[in-house]
Amino acid sequence: MSTQQKTAETAIPVDQTKAAIRTRLADLRSAGASIALVPTMGALHEGHLSLVSVALANADRVVASIFVNPKQFAPGEDLDRYPRTLHADLQRLAEAGAHAAFIPATEQMYPDGFQTSVEVGELAAPLCGRSRPHFFGGVATVVAKLFTQTRPDVAVFGEKDYQQLLIIRRMARDLDLDVEVIGAPIIRHEDGLAMSSRNAYLSAEERARASVLSRAIRQAAEAIEAGAKPAAALEDAKGMLRAAGVADIDYLEARRSDDLAALADGDGVEARVFVAAHVGGARLIDNWPVRARSKS
Ligand code: PAF
Repeated sequence: MSTQQKTAETAIPVDQTKAAIRTRLADLRSAGASIALVPTMGALHEGHLSLVSVALANADRVVASIFVNPKQFAPGEDLDRYPRTLHADLQRLAEAGAHAAFIPATEQMYPDGFQTSVEVGELAAPLCGRSRPHFFGGVATVVAKLFTQTRPDVAVFGEKDYQQLLIIRRMARDLDLDVEVIGAPIIRHEDGLAMSSRNAYLSAEERARASVLSRAIRQAAEAIEAGAKPAAALEDAKGMLRAAGVADIDYLEARRSDDLAALADGDGVEARVFVAAHVGGARLIDNWPVRARSKS
């Protein structure tokens, strides 16, 4: 696909270079339009399309980026097999009302000699940062680049990757990137499984088993709300996962929503129950909100 091509099938303009997307967005800005960015790695599903809807509600023009970012995968992770469905993605973006797609090649993002990265702080220490230490630095680096390449007024990220959302919001604030980072609610399948591009790795049996993740964290969140000690509620939820055949649990923890500090007994703050677990060849994450009771 050539730069700035508008395919007949998709009717959405596609830019593949930084220069092309900059020109497009500069033109829109000088015509007075506000810009929203929806960064993605493609393999788009309803969850991504809901991000486009939130973006449309918050800006005049929406650009979605599709880039499978090698810097957020460690050797041995799923970079090579990450699902790539570009044609369908462009159709979906057009149908969802996005105005342009930015699909840079790796050389555009990381030209020869690239050696500068964003270092993330404490928010990246727990949860996914513990088991994937390379991950949030890679995410922050590519998102910082996308922000400077597109200079959006707002950018929309899903709450399924809640830790990522907090880290990006903090990065935008700390580095004065002048973009409002908006979180969009998790979109779930009917059985509660959070939508994820990685669900494509699941066999039918694994897909059925995976639905226990959302049931377990919801049960833990409701138990904490009802006054259970977090540690006990989380142990019960782990038992539920194991009983359903999900034994490879990376973490199942309750943490405060604002700073990801561990939730203590009786904390009266917004919190979330977070889970990451392996089902078949897929590492799945999810979280469920909980308002912990205040000390009485
Ligand atoms: O959430 C994702 O899909 C990715 O981590 C992101 C934000 C597009 C950065 O590569």
